[in-house]
Amino acid sequence: MFGFFKKKKETQPDYGPAPDDFSFLAVDFHSHLIPGVDDGSKELAHSCDFVQAFERLGFRKIITTPHIHGDFYRNTPEILQAGLGEVQQALKTVGCGMPVQVAAEYYLDNYFLDEVLPHGLLTFGNNQVLVEVSMAGWPRNFDQILFAVQAAGYNPVLAHPERYAYVEDISIFKELKERGVELQMNLLSPTGYYGAPIRQLAEEMLTAGLYDYAASDLHHERHLANLEEMLRHQKPLMARLAAYGFKNNVLLP
Ligand SMILES: [Fe+2]
Repeated sequence: MFGFFKKKKETQPDYGPAPDDFSFLAVDFHSHLIPGVDDGSKELAHSCDFVQAFERLGFRKIITTPHIHGDFYRNTPEILQAGLGEVQQALKTVGCGMPVQVAAEYYLDNYFLDEVLPHGLLTFGNNQVLVEVSMAGWPRNFDQILFAVQAAGYNPVLAHPERYAYVEDISIFKELKERGVELQMNLLSPTGYYGAPIRQLAEEMLTAGLYDYAASDLHHERHLANLEEMLRHQKPLMARLAAYGFKNNVLLP
């Protein structure tokens, strides 16, 4: 009669208790909170609300990373610094003391190589730069671009490798790590928010211990709602992430 209990599967590792918030990540370094410069926050008031939401979720610092993309968002460090100033001023007005910095999410293509990199990049942490590649296919001259980035003294962090659904074998990411590229998972990827294949790739990479960092990639209200939902209703996943040991569990400069 106790067969039911005996059959209960014991295959899931015990990751300990689920956290109450995201404070196992001290800093979120991937989001789109400078108003009106990309496909992220549209208004200053929304940016302010998002920063305050991050504070409630347990983060202690935000390094926001608007897109710099030759085809869509030709942002410059000056444009982004000016936007940051507005956000900081607005936060002061509402009495929010959350530290906010700005870097960027650089789209790696020839525009980046020819027009962006030579003028200097916005960095965080240890001269790190957040980079992304096409969702349609791996850049043909990726090696050339990576070499140029590293030769200029920057340490690239590849955003959401699990979202490049055309990658069939995670060994490409193992090789990238050996070449000094760090990897950042989107927090919503293992929830299934971006679809089942991306969830599966994220799980595979978590299991292989390939990720260095996790971050929100927050663009809008729906992302925030899903992060809150994840915290409330995805306890085993939250416990797993809290136990993982992401390197942004300390405040990055
Ligand atoms: Fe992003």
